[in-house]
Amino acid sequence: MKDKLIEITTGDWQLDQADPDWVAGLEAGKVLYFPNLAFELLPPETAFLKPEILDPKVRNISLNEHGQLKGAQGDNDTQEALAAMIGRFRSQALALVHSLLPKYQESLRVAPTSYRPMPVGNRKQSWRADDRRLHVDAFPSRPNYGERILRVFTNINPHDEPRVWRLGEPFEEMAEKMLPRAKPYVRWQASVINKLGITKSMRSEYDHLMLQLHDLMKSDLDYQQQVEQLTVPFPPGSVWVCFSDLVSHAVASGQYMLEQTLHLPADKQYDPTLSPLAILSRITGRQLV
Ligand code: SIN
Ligand code: FE
Repeated sequence: MKDKLIEITTGDWQLDQADPDWVAGLEAGKVLYFPNLAFELLPPETAFLKPEILDPKVRNISLNEHGQLKGAQGDNDTQEALAAMIGRFRSQALALVHSLLPKYQESLRVAPTSYRPMPVGNRKQSWRADDRRLHVDAFPSRPNYGERILRVFTNINPHDEPRVWRLGEPFEEMAEKMLPRAKPYVRWQASVINKLGITKSMRSEYDHLMLQLHDLMKSDLDYQQQVEQLTVPFPPGSVWVCFSDLVSHAVASGQYMLEQTLHLPADKQYDPTLSPLAILSRITGRQLV
């Protein structure tokens, strides 16, 4: 079970050399775990370690690609300093990914960076939005046609509280179990929800199936309890990286995390046959995008 993680001991965000086994492991659905890689806060930034920094109307604070901060409370100076902190994490996360995965560099698209100051589970939410249940990531409103979701996380909790995750079974096994229960893709329905503005572009069959897998996993409480899984506490001062569209994951507890999302076309991976798109195409025997 421990083989769900690959431990990398560097304390530097810029790796001198990347081991091809790390890349192969990441693409095959392992989590790269950096136990000694800390995101250092400047002394005044410790003031941001409080839930009240979050606008109660939103889930997370985020910094978009233009450097605009959303979802934070506080005066201009506070917002500027917070944007600088999140921006510094983004730079370090990018340095890590570029040195770890040089082949990705020219194809990566940087998504907003998020800061999550709330304790996990403090929010009333539907089962579908509840990331305490095992799932693979899929976006309901933003179809991605097989583009990968690569995420870098760091725990910045000041009270020595880990961010505890559960990691589930490999994608292919999960998909083999869930796909027979998936509703079929209906093109005219995808077209209607797109015209209504519910999606930003027309959902492909791939997007439909990924959402079905996400929902079938989360809605099945027996599956949640019975599937083979590993509980992993990520302590403060650690970093972990995974393809969250491939890795079955859930968050059990924790508070104060920074997260960077990156997107990568599936054909730009080292081994494109390992992508969810390739796996689902193989299982269904259909072209899904
Ligand atoms: C998720 O991506 O499912 C949430 C992870 C977290 O909040 O730790
Ligand atoms: Fe997730």
